[in-house]
Formats: sequence, C-alpha cells, structure tokens
Amino acid sequence: MHAMTMTTQTIFLLLLALAPLRMAAAGKNCPGVPWLGAVAACRKASSTKFIYDLCIRTMREDGVDMSPSHKQEVTAYIILATEDAANSYDSTQLVASNQLDQNASLPGPVRDAYEGCLNDYPAAEDSLDRVTEAMRSGCDFVGIADQYTSGMMSLENCRDRLLSLQQYKTPVYPMVLADRDKVSLAYMLAKLLGI
Ligand SMILES: *[C@@H]1O[C@H](CO)[C@@H](O)[C@H](O)[C@H]1NC(C)=O
Repeated sequence: MHAMTMTTQTIFLLLLALAPLRMAAAGKNCPGVPWLGAVAACRKASSTKFIYDLCIRTMREDGVDMSPSHKQEVTAYIILATEDAANSYDSTQLVASNQLDQNASLPGPVRDAYEGCLNDYPAAEDSLDRVTEAMRSGCDFVGIADQYTSGMMSLENCRDRLLSLQQYKTPVYPMVLADRDKVSLAYMLAKLLGI
C-alpha cells in the first residue's frame, strides 16, 4: 500500500541527501572566497545601477536561483559572467565576418575596421578563456586581474577602430559596447575575490 507515496518520499529524501553534494560542486571552498546570494553578489560588485541591472539580468537569463538563501561561491558567478561575455564576443565576431562576406556596400574603412576587429577579438576572448580555466581548476587567482585588463585592451582596440567611423553607423559598434559592459561586469564580480 501507498507504493506511490513511498517512492515519492524515497526520492525526496534522496534529493535532500544529495543537495549538499550539489552545493559543494557549485563552488570549490577556496579559502577566503565569499559565498553570496546572486543579488548580494551583484550589489557588492556593481558600482553603477547600469552594471547592477546587467548583473541581475545576466544571472536571471542563466537560470540562477535569485533567492537570498541560495548562496554560491562567488567564483560561480564570475565564471557565469565571463562565459556570458565570451558568448557575446562570438556573436559580435559572427556579425562582423558576415558583414565582410555579405555586405557588398561595406565602405573600405569599415571593411578595414572589421578586419582589425577580427584580429582583436580572439586575443580578447583568449583572456576570458584563461580566467574561466583558472576559476575552474583551483584557488589560485594570481594574474586574473591582468587577464581581464589585457583582454579589455584588445576589445578597446576594436572599439576605437569603430569609434573613428561613427559616420557609418556600423551594426557592430553597439555590439562591441555591449561586450565591453559584459566584461566589465565579469571583472567587477572577480574583484570580490580581492584581486
Ligand atoms: C552594410 O554596411 C553599412 C555600413 O556599415 C551599414 O550601414 C548597413 O547597415 C550594412 N547593411 C546590412 C544589410 O547589414
């Protein structure tokens, strides 16, 4: 009797027993690294309302549990924001290369700028990948700040190429600005590590 109830209860107890394991998997228990709820992490990391809103939106879109009782090691949020920036970089590069391939009316200076950007972006993305790798593999955060800043400089090279072509209203320019915001957010979250 009550076979269903028993099964449900067993599954519930099993999930309850596994919950701490899943929590542990979400972070690495690095010494001195804070565990925070997503909203608290966004609040602590953000210096402006714009970045705070971007932070909340990024967490929500990634399906993060936003309740204050759901705390994670901040490295989890940093990885999430850094990967979100890397995905966004991919989209930007795709649009730039599609413009180069398909936009027959692309003016010469814009073409040159896009080609330059397609050199800048891999370097920028490389830095993000190194950050993610370091976050996943251990508790050694030395050099992370340098990775963010050198990656941001590569991104800014591209931004400056397009900035000098404002009269052309390129569809890529706003994407580069959005990428800049995303990497800024990731870096601000990373600063919660005390780097
Ligand atoms: C082609 O490039 C020009 C200059 O960047 C841009 O204004 C236009 O929107 C592009 N056309 C398409 C179809 O993307």
